[in-house]
Amino acid sequence: MNTHDIRARYLAFCKKNGHALMPSASLRPENDPTTLFTSSGMQPLVPYLMGQKHSLGTRLANSQRCFRAEDIDDVGDNRHTTFFEMLGNWSLGDYFKKEQLPWIFHFLVDEVGLDPSRLYVTCFSGDDTMDIPRDEESAAIWKGLFATKGIDAPIVDIGTEEDGARNGMRNGRIFYYTAAKNWWSRAGVPEDMPTGEIGGPDSEIFYDFGTPHDSKYGQQCHPNCDCGRFMEIGNSVFIEYIKNDDGTFARLSQRNVDFGGGLERIAAASIDTPDIFALDIFAPMIAALEKESGKKYTDASYVEAFRVIADHVRGSVFMIADGIMPSNKEQGYILRKLLRRAVLYSDRLGITRGRLGMLAEYSVRAYEDVFDDVRKKREDIVSVISEEEKKFRRALTKGLKEFEKIVQRTEKEISGHDAFILFTTYGFPYELTEELAKERGLTIHRKDFEKEFKEHQKLSQSASEQKFKGGLADHSAITTAFHTATHLMLAGLRKELGSHVHQAGSNITAERTRFDFTHQEKVPRDVLDRVERYVNDVIAADAKVIVEEIDKDVARADESIEGSFWHKYPERVTVYTVRSDDGTVWSRELCGGPHVTHTGEIARYGRFAITKEKSSSAGVRRVKAVFVPVQE
Ligand code: SER
Repeated sequence: MNTHDIRARYLAFCKKNGHALMPSASLRPENDPTTLFTSSGMQPLVPYLMGQKHSLGTRLANSQRCFRAEDIDDVGDNRHTTFFEMLGNWSLGDYFKKEQLPWIFHFLVDEVGLDPSRLYVTCFSGDDTMDIPRDEESAAIWKGLFATKGIDAPIVDIGTEEDGARNGMRNGRIFYYTAAKNWWSRAGVPEDMPTGEIGGPDSEIFYDFGTPHDSKYGQQCHPNCDCGRFMEIGNSVFIEYIKNDDGTFARLSQRNVDFGGGLERIAAASIDTPDIFALDIFAPMIAALEKESGKKYTDASYVEAFRVIADHVRGSVFMIADGIMPSNKEQGYILRKLLRRAVLYSDRLGITRGRLGMLAEYSVRAYEDVFDDVRKKREDIVSVISEEEKKFRRALTKGLKEFEKIVQRTEKEISGHDAFILFTTYGFPYELTEELAKERGLTIHRKDFEKEFKEHQKLSQSASEQKFKGGLADHSAITTAFHTATHLMLAGLRKELGSHVHQAGSNITAERTRFDFTHQEKVPRDVLDRVERYVNDVIAADAKVIVEEIDKDVARADESIEGSFWHKYPERVTVYTVRSDDGTVWSRELCGGPHVTHTGEIARYGRFAITKEKSSSAGVRRVKAVFVPVQE
């Protein structure tokens, strides 16, 4: 069975079980401001999982095209891809565990032909603090299913991933893991879910490739170990909970099933190879790359380049088929990034003649019999990709000229800033500049480059993570109030912690503000309390919020104005200042708005409270804050 056969078999299987088949939704989510791409099959179905009636009934299935921009840097190993197809079936308050688990087991074993002795499964261990019980029902169903194939399936309580690495599998086949592994929601673990978000315990299926354990990933192997022996091929989520205002969970009015299985991963398991790029859908493109480059896919020094090009070209093909064009923002920015990376990795294979358009043809050919829109848009797809490659190659040539100028004025060490300009303006990755510098006997001030790069990266991360304009989900009155309160919080954090604190990202909805800032250590609770008080005092003082437009250079030189991501802004910038009538300045920050006009307007939403503080990434902390209603 090839990849297309497996997709067709799955859809036929679901149809036989009473599911209505739906077409794949677009990679560009409709009516969902919280995310740039459709990254799971359930995303377009959220309203129906919450109880709205779906015109096709209560049993739905499809193969959904998905894109996960956060995985771009992981592409290169044998399993990560940015684009993938997710086979999905849903029960909208219809069937539940005792139908879902047998169906998916039979599909994988009896239809796809996977050896059941190579399957391992996981279930939710339960959580007392959330008052959600252990999923013993799923474990018992699995035990019975393995028994039908003559397999004794011991149930083992693993706990966390760390426990698994320490204690190993202890001869189990069915494993309980905590919420970090066996709970699914769009926002991840229960504590990260915003109010009103839905989710539930899940039960995952893993395929055992039987490869030896690599102790780099932990002392012992277990299904959720990343060493490559096990690959997750399917996940049945039992969406029956919704998060309350107070952080507890309530049951939804209906019990749902949300199953998702990576089509490519199931296909890889079906031919018992852990390498997704060995699949039929990639093979012709990989062969073309071998021919163009004269290099072998099996050569360990080139395999990463082969995979990155194959993944990025395929991802670009599907983005363009869904109407996304290369640009400098949102989805277009990610498309551009994919294509630029593909160009640079082509160079690594010695293919410098602009062949991405030709490679895209192979991807189109691999899918055109199944997806009409890909076939119909073939010409557009190929020409957009070829043009973007041409453009980028021209920029690279210009960049080489700029590089020569830099060399002229450099004695020994290229400044971090110059390397950064080569990166942002001409698309030169650091490694390329470094290589060129080396040829001239020069070095680069890496630290300075990294400093500027980090700032830039945070910006693009927030751009790709969230489509929110200026970090805001909407411009409702409460979101705007949170926005102004967030400025005050940053001012408070800088007052308490020091002027090294700058914004590193923000994400504000009508429920809460999530704010990232540069700081090394954990912020103690008493400091958070003082920051909270600062914000609430300014709200109580009913200070004015004043807007002015000034020259960027003037603003940048003015130390009283707080700002990050300066390079993002145009020559004239907007500054928001919170000032009391007596002249006290509470906050002064570069920003695009919107804000309240007087801080007193915020008071009606309650007391500003910082509820969480944790690490976000190296040198960056993340806080969440809400308004706590004040009892009259
Ligand atoms: N939503 C779940 C996932 O993405 C299952 O479909 O894994």
